[in-house]
Amino acid sequence: MNVRGLLNITDLTVDELSLVLALSQRDPASLGRPLASPSGLALGAALIFEKPSNRTRHSMEVAVVQLGGHPVYTRGEEVGFDTREPVEDIGRILSGYHGLVAARVFSHSVVERLHASCSVPVVNMLSDVSHPLQGLADALTMVNEFGELAGRTVAYVGDYNNVARSLGEVCVMLGAHYRLACPAGYSASDAELSRLSSLGSGSIEQSTDPVVAVRGAHAVHTDTWVSMGQEAEKAERLGIFGSYTVTSALMSKADSRAIFMHCLPAYRGYEVEAAVIDGAASRVIEQGHNRLHSARGAMAFLLGVK
Ligand code: CP
Ligand code: NVA
Repeated sequence: MNVRGLLNITDLTVDELSLVLALSQRDPASLGRPLASPSGLALGAALIFEKPSNRTRHSMEVAVVQLGGHPVYTRGEEVGFDTREPVEDIGRILSGYHGLVAARVFSHSVVERLHASCSVPVVNMLSDVSHPLQGLADALTMVNEFGELAGRTVAYVGDYNNVARSLGEVCVMLGAHYRLACPAGYSASDAELSRLSSLGSGSIEQSTDPVVAVRGAHAVHTDTWVSMGQEAEKAERLGIFGSYTVTSALMSKADSRAIFMHCLPAYRGYEVEAAVIDGAASRVIEQGHNRLHSARGAMAFLLGVK
């Protein structure tokens, strides 16, 4: 890999993560046009989606335009990673058209191979392993709310999935205490907990009890119980996660000013009660809007804006 990529939050150092958040908070006009040539000609940005998207597609397209570039959206089946042609051929070809390549993929190894074969920065727009753009927006939303994350307690209730992993990485890197409540078999392994806890000054704790995770927390997060690609497991998962709904009663165990967060799309009546996600503590719309600011900050960083 000879160019920067954002495949996981851990592709950033702690200082770089803080810089990305600072760039995300800056007036977009002050970032210049890093996706344009010196003469002002727009460079392309390839946005390839193997799965559906609302927030990620829209925020990335708008952020690319704000950075002076031209987004080119393609569905996964059109480029056909390893079906129409090898990932490596796709990466080398796209690098000749674009200043940045981004992909939402089923298998994380595809975005890794894309990064290895591209000569421009590569961004993971969600894989089975991680969702770094979401982690950045989650961090930005909490930093905007609390001033800083250090010393705060952040709870995540539900499936230890791509979103939970990226959230854990930003929390530990920024000094927060991350508390997970996940059912057995859908939790972080001991090795994963130890990897997370080594990332920064924050800490991590896991139990199977949502009340233990949420007690006194400043932010309570959850995500769908059935991620994209897991549809065949839906009935089984709904049974296993039945006692992991974030309800008003569960929120009452958190800090009295605690906020509720969810990456969206949300399934009311499953992972979250409507009264919580549509209530005063919810920050999900701000969180979704921060996807634009953090996408712009992340791409500006990868393109060398200081
Ligand atoms: N949170 C998120 O990534 O949303 P989309 O799947 O709509 O992009
Ligand atoms: N964990 C979810 C996040 C959706 C934005 C999924 O992977 O489908």
